[in-house]
Amino acid sequence: MEYRISRRELMLGAIAASVTMRVPAMAETRPAIHVMKDPNCGCCSAWIEILENDGFDVTTEESSGTRLRRYKIDNGIPQNMVSCHTGRIDGYIIEGHVPVADIRRLLDERPDAVGLAVPDMPFGSPGMGPESEREAYDVFLIRRDGSTEVFTSYAAA
Ligand code: CU
Ligand code: CU
Repeated sequence: MEYRISRRELMLGAIAASVTMRVPAMAETRPAIHVMKDPNCGCCSAWIEILENDGFDVTTEESSGTRLRRYKIDNGIPQNMVSCHTGRIDGYIIEGHVPVADIRRLLDERPDAVGLAVPDMPFGSPGMGPESEREAYDVFLIRRDGSTEVFTSYAAA
């Protein structure tokens, strides 16, 4: 009996050690995203804050008007997919108020694509007001040929 208890303690100790060891490993893999945003637009900052709180390493660059529109076009975002801010992460473009879960899924699945977009600024998408009052919207995957397909559908809350 004494032996079994000490062995159990040993196992718990091993589990605790493995949990402790995972923490620095995860911190090292914080995904880095660079975001072009209009300095006069508050919703971009709200979206960035959500990413930061989720462990993303966010850097920003101010851009607006024609320059920002040009950046979007040059990076393969179709006209009908345009929103406010434009992020670049690991070779992918993230246009607009894309939820963190979709960005992480994109980085996991690594499709051959330009990136993700939530066109316009749907109410209740991340950074655009309370999720509990969310209107229905889709996250689109932008293919390299400019075509798009639904990546995730979010129903109205
Ligand atoms: Cu916005
Ligand atoms: Cu904005």
